[in-house]
Amino acid sequence: MSDTSPKPWAATALTLFPEAFPGVLSASVIGGAEKSQIWSLETVDIRNFSSNKHRTVDGTPAGGGAGMVLRPDIAAAAIDSVPKNGRALIYLTPRGTPLTQHRVKELAAGPGVIVFCARFEGLDERVIEARQMEEISIGDYVLAGGEVAAQVLIEACVRLIPGVLGKAESTVEESFEEGLLEYPLYTKPREFEGRAIPDVLLSGNHQKVEDWRKAKMIEATQARRPDLFDAYTARQERTKGDAT
Ligand code: ADE
Repeated sequence: MSDTSPKPWAATALTLFPEAFPGVLSASVIGGAEKSQIWSLETVDIRNFSSNKHRTVDGTPAGGGAGMVLRPDIAAAAIDSVPKNGRALIYLTPRGTPLTQHRVKELAAGPGVIVFCARFEGLDERVIEARQMEEISIGDYVLAGGEVAAQVLIEACVRLIPGVLGKAESTVEESFEEGLLEYPLYTKPREFEGRAIPDVLLSGNHQKVEDWRKAKMIEATQARRPDLFDAYTARQERTKGDAT
């Protein structure tokens, strides 16, 4: 009989530090979902593809300068050892396109990811081109290597796979779904160090609560993320235009 169960969403991390995995990916619902075989994680040690007896994987930068560069032949051998199976091949680098929830959704809907984590100054440009790697950054700051960035990307994807989050952690109403930041949250106690929960949240009036939350989302987005706010207002203008 053929196996009709869906294949788990598959992540493969190529790294010089396999011990950095699973890291945070073994915790909580994400780790539980791996145990339930909703998704899988495999690591490949790039150093295993070095052909010299010292197992070196890097060289000095052509043209001079500080640091070392990961060799393209070794990187390519590591990449080529992994069955692609239709997955995105991603190189995590501060030079990459910023990661967005939109791209995360696309990746989560696909068969999985192969993530390449570099150390040193980075990876030789030629292997990035030759293997058509997608370069992704998780933000405008520089990490010591791609491992944490890879875990950020994988976690963001895995939580969107159906069956990973329970109803309680639903992803329907959250930051970026509407292009706005989330509203502030409150719980017990009713008063904390002289600060009360806003009355409207205790009013039991669902419409008023919804309106208050929407206003807070807009307020936070305008104050903290003018870029998202401008995109939001432009979208609002367009839908208004479409309606007339
Ligand atoms: N490697 C080092 N810094 C990084 C960043 N900001 N994003 C992705 N990969 C990285």
